[in-house]
Amino acid sequence: MTGGTFESVFGAPPEAVGQAPGRVNLLGEHTDYNDGFVLPIAIAQQTRVSVRRNAGPEFRLHAAELDQAVRFTLDAPPAPHFATYVYGCLVQAQGAGAQVPPLDIHVASDVPMGVGLSSSAALEVATLRALRTLLSLDFDDVLIAQLAQRAEIEQAGVRCGILDQMASSLADTRRALLLDTRSLERRFVDLPAGCEILVLDSGVPRALAESGYNARRAECEAAAARLGVASLREVTDPQLLDSLPDPLRRRARHVLTENARVLKAATSSSALDFGELMNASHASLRDDYEVSVAPLDRLVELLQEHPGVYGARLTGAGFGGACVALCREGEWQAIADAVLADYAASGHAGRILVPAPA
Ligand code: GLA
Repeated sequence: MTGGTFESVFGAPPEAVGQAPGRVNLLGEHTDYNDGFVLPIAIAQQTRVSVRRNAGPEFRLHAAELDQAVRFTLDAPPAPHFATYVYGCLVQAQGAGAQVPPLDIHVASDVPMGVGLSSSAALEVATLRALRTLLSLDFDDVLIAQLAQRAEIEQAGVRCGILDQMASSLADTRRALLLDTRSLERRFVDLPAGCEILVLDSGVPRALAESGYNARRAECEAAAARLGVASLREVTDPQLLDSLPDPLRRRARHVLTENARVLKAATSSSALDFGELMNASHASLRDDYEVSVAPLDRLVELLQEHPGVYGARLTGAGFGGACVALCREGEWQAIADAVLADYAASGHAGRILVPAPA
């Protein structure tokens, strides 16, 4: 870890600390901004935000891993992108009634960045948790997720759904969180017995993620408008999609089938069935939703071909980043070694993200 501790940077211990995990989404990709269903699980890697009131007038923010420091006030957003997430949470907390004093803020994190494991949501939720403790705010975990999502949309400028923030705020590492993103109703779901999760980074940066993500959102909104519904969640009969022109029909078909896969997985106790649903999700993201890239397809294919793997798919927004596999318990290391060696032979450098490296 670079960049020093809170005390070495600011010369005194913090008054409050907030922690929040990253997440891996097992099923339910690109469904959240369509009011649909998602099935994330928290990962062991966490972001820790420590805070202390300062004499003002500025906020002083230090990010240990990035080795970056920035000063700002709540009147104007700071320039570094990572700082807009923190700034956004402070602004949103203020909007929700908190009196936020000038603070020294220290961020430390081992959540991998830029691979689809929600490092930004972990930063947002940890920031709001630190504020909640410092100021004795009566924000519950759902409100924290909602404020975090608003910060990401309004201050960081990313039109995300609520999957990442709800997962970081409410998921746990042992059971998946089945979430209805329309009502925010949720329950924990056990993974099939005898399974464990492996997440591999494809090593492909998510270059087009932002423009591609916004384009897919716009296509879903256009499809819903043509069908005369508020969101694609309202459509359950696939035949209705026949009236849509391509590519809207395929985009909407992904959303419908993906919602169905989440609901089916949540009631399935069989690893084989769960894995099949993950494989089908990847095919749908690749062919109908078109958010995969060739190296990611290759890595997913290598995982799917391994006898110790029940199913695998890209996870997160796509366009690069990570994939997740449901593996036979006790075999993740052997699977990762074999698959990453084959992946390297095809000219790509992948790495293990989950389980967290020791
Ligand atoms: C990103 C967004 C989420 C969700 C996923 C795709 O992680 O932040 O809201 O839309 O992509 O499922």
